[in-house]
Amino acid sequence: MAEYDVVVIGGGPGGYNAAIRAGQLGLKVACVEKRATLGGTCLNVGCIPSKALLHASELYELAGKHFADFGIEVTPKLNLPNMMAQKASAVGQLTKGIEFLFKKNKVDWVKGAGKIAGPGRVEVTAEDGAVSVLETRNIVIAAGSEPAPLAGVAVDQQRIVDSTGALSLSEVPRSLIVIGAGVIGLELGSVWRRLGAEVTVVEFLPRITPGVDEETAKALQRALAKQGIAFRLGAKVTGAKASAKQVALTVEPVAGGEPETLTADYILLAIGRRPCAAGLGLESVGVVPDKRGFVETDHFRTSAPGVWAIGDVTPGPMLAHKAEDEAVACIEIIAGKAGHVNYDVIPSVIYTAPEVAAVGKTEEELKAAGVAYKVGKFPFAANSRAKVNGEADGFVKVLADAKTDRILGVHMIGPDVSELIAEYCVAMEFAAASEDVARTCHPHPTRSEASRQAAMGVEGWTMQA
Ligand code: FAD
Ligand code: NAI
Repeated sequence: MAEYDVVVIGGGPGGYNAAIRAGQLGLKVACVEKRATLGGTCLNVGCIPSKALLHASELYELAGKHFADFGIEVTPKLNLPNMMAQKASAVGQLTKGIEFLFKKNKVDWVKGAGKIAGPGRVEVTAEDGAVSVLETRNIVIAAGSEPAPLAGVAVDQQRIVDSTGALSLSEVPRSLIVIGAGVIGLELGSVWRRLGAEVTVVEFLPRITPGVDEETAKALQRALAKQGIAFRLGAKVTGAKASAKQVALTVEPVAGGEPETLTADYILLAIGRRPCAAGLGLESVGVVPDKRGFVETDHFRTSAPGVWAIGDVTPGPMLAHKAEDEAVACIEIIAGKAGHVNYDVIPSVIYTAPEVAAVGKTEEELKAAGVAYKVGKFPFAANSRAKVNGEADGFVKVLADAKTDRILGVHMIGPDVSELIAEYCVAMEFAAASEDVARTCHPHPTRSEASRQAAMGVEGWTMQA
């Protein structure tokens, strides 16, 4: 008889949520994690530490540059070790919280690297080299992802860092080159710019944040440029050299032209992430990753019976909440229930200032699919709460089906839009029309009124602008 109903490989948002849900449903479950703490990329070196530094650096920026607008005169002094200590403390509390939830839900945390050793068998190698084997009815692969490398740019975590290194620099760089104008580059570039670094973002494409609604991406680029971030778009990186105190990056225009050398104190390489599917023993059960290294699934089932996969190691957006939702649905299916993820309603957020938040289709996607849509848009400059708070940059844009009025996509840039987007996620989950939001009473004065006014704009009856 199998020792476990479920063995989960990986203790990140995918893995720990799967393990906890399995425990809640009365399944006998183990979670194998090779890192010393639970929580995966997200809690240890991703979402949480980055948001801690984004919050702290925003407070520093507000104190130094914007408090005076409200009649408060202060001269802030940066204490970087204390800022890092606050981040570490938040991470520590949250990873311990997962440990507590494991105990509460009777999840066995097996420390070590897990490898599938055949159907229903997971071999675990502990840090001291000891090997044990877990027998199980189901294996859930939740091994996550890691930073993608770039030929010619060797990450040493000293002068050339990836996101993990950029979350723990021991000094504020005088200058920082960020390779990749994606989510990590813009969030961590913002952190160090706010703390005093001169930041240049080098991007291969002619635009920032590919995949983000174009109008919104342009507004974000304008806002970040106004804050002092320099952009080199359409630039191809050809190599990087680090010396003891400096780095040199060679770039050339993608469209052709003279190569040039940029120098800085540090380089942050952030050109995407790749799945961690190697070394999992997939071959022992006949699972072959796709050509980009992802484990393909059909409703979380891999091609091998009893082997499931969720989160960043599978295709789709590499987001913690996507991994969490897949975890719950996968375990519910294993438990004989009807697990489901609505991939049309997975929000995404960029935690810069202003923030960017979106759910559903972009205008570009709707045009490409030939869908007739209507647009309602509302600027934060006309929102009373944003105005009194001095945060009037940005807008909310609602895209609705021209015939049915069903909401197809929502794109926001502005203050705290990471919180505002959830209203539209609920609306879309319930297949709402834009009029449903437009006719829902919202509290005044709040930024959420901008969300409602944008919905009113779809039928042309916006009141406040
Ligand atoms: P992971 O979190 O990567 O967890 C996988 C775990 O499996 C790891 O702990 C790893 O050690 C373990 N593992 C791997 N192989 C084995 C093995 N063989 N045996 C045992 N253990 C193994 N997403 C958001 O939604 N919002 C954000 O704000 C956000 N910010 C981010 C900021 C940064 C800097 C980064 C890098 C990422 C961010 N992400 C964010 C993405 C988010 O972290 C990931 O989408 C999420 O962590 C994926 O969860 P996962 O469980 O699939 O994988
Ligand atoms: P990304 O995919 O968001 O952006 C990578 C950028 O690098 C793109 O603009 C791409 O065009 C560019 N690029 C690729 N190759 C290049 C090259 N050779 N030279 C210059 N530019 C190049 O990837 P990123 O920022 O590394 O983040 C990885 C993932 O982590 C994200 O896609 C997201 O899923 C997750 N994440 C989510 C966050 C959030 O939800 N707020 C925060 C941080 C990360």
